Amino acid sequence: MFTGKGGVGKTSVAASTAVTLAEMGYKTLILSTDAAHSLSDALDVSVGSVLRNISDNLYAQEVSVIDSVNTHWEDLKEFLAGLFSFQGLDYISSEELATLPGFDEASELLYVDEYVRSGEYDVIVMDSAPTGESLKLLSFPEAMSWYMEKFFPIGRTTAKIVRPIVKPFTKIPLPSDKVFESMESLYLNLKEVRNHLTDPEMTSIRLVCTPDRMSLNETKRAYTYLLLYGYPVDSLIVNKIFESETGEFFRQWRLSQDSILKEIDQAFSSLTISRINLTRREPTGMKNLAELGKGLYGDLDPSRPLPSETPVQYTKINGKHVVRVRLPFADKKRVNLYNRGGELVIELDNWRRVFFLPQTLSGKKPASAEFNNGYLDIEMS
Ligand SMILES: Nc1ncnc2c1ncn2[C@@H]1O[C@H](COP(=O)(O)OP(=O)(O)OP(=O)(O)O)[C@@H](O)[C@H]1O
Ligand SMILES: [Mg+2]
Repeated sequence: MFTGKGGVGKTSVAASTAVTLAEMGYKTLILSTDAAHSLSDALDVSVGSVLRNISDNLYAQEVSVIDSVNTHWEDLKEFLAGLFSFQGLDYISSEELATLPGFDEASELLYVDEYVRSGEYDVIVMDSAPTGESLKLLSFPEAMSWYMEKFFPIGRTTAKIVRPIVKPFTKIPLPSDKVFESMESLYLNLKEVRNHLTDPEMTSIRLVCTPDRMSLNETKRAYTYLLLYGYPVDSLIVNKIFESETGEFFRQWRLSQDSILKEIDQAFSSLTISRINLTRREPTGMKNLAELGKGLYGDLDPSRPLPSETPVQYTKINGKHVVRVRLPFADKKRVNLYNRGGELVIELDNWRRVFFLPQTLSGKKPASAEFNNGYLDIEMS
């Protein structure tokens, strides 16, 4: 999965990776989860919301939330339609339902889950939306699990939804068994897709950036948030680097890129870093993308996961239980930590992760916390 700031080249790099993989003989699917799809433009073929074969070994789809509502959520749609008309509102259309919060994220993740489950493809490449949207997507399964566990008493281990107790005199229509079943399967599928996406042997999250200050700063934050949510980020691709012969006009830019490239190497020394030059023409179409891929990967296999940092460790330091979270570029002043009903909550900027602690730590509360070399060590007692 490729993510990064707007316009840095995520779609171009994702598409060139997919073209490279397909040429290597892997049956490859490239999925765009950015609502502002530009995969068709990058590949220079029409992609569309229905999965299609676009060349040897290469399949593509631009996920559409409206299509997904129609295929994945018939039951829920019926229920909500009933609920809306009970409230005196008109029938709700798929288009309207698709604009409700969470549907976008859930649709995209359900497609990933479906394709992983099908076992049809050797590699799935995800071209995602700019950082904020991608983080919303990746934090969604946990947020949704939390929400569903609060609203419906779903046991964490049994995952069986018990009907909420509704006062007998209420006239609000109760969801049918079918609705409960569809919510239960949604819950389980989201859990599963999160397990896949956080498994470093199965998933690589790759950051794309350009050598400028704003992109570097955003990449540092994105990397930290991704670790907070437990995702395996294994590399950083620096795109649009000027060649050494820039001519007079771009000389200052080239110098500034040089100094930022040095900073990037230092800041991200724990990741594999690769570089792509600014090409003389826009790298669109399969041929140009294959070329871009050659420069980027050489003889390396893009499907192979590279070493990534362990986001969270449950360890013992001096005989004390410690939750150690890797947050390399977090501003201490912007971290909040608290315990809420047996759950450990870490907030960083606008992002919040609720940690469901392992059995050995259940009942323990954060006693103290400190930053050590980019790790937040939380002592639990
Ligand atoms: N190495 C490169 N050299 C020259 N142009 C490039 C390079 N990489 C990408 N581009 C061009 O930069 C523009 C933005 O690229 P792209 O759409 O891949 O970025 P993105 O990060 O996916 O953008 P968005 O945030 O809108 O999804 C496109 O016109 C693309 O062709
Ligand atoms: Mg894009």
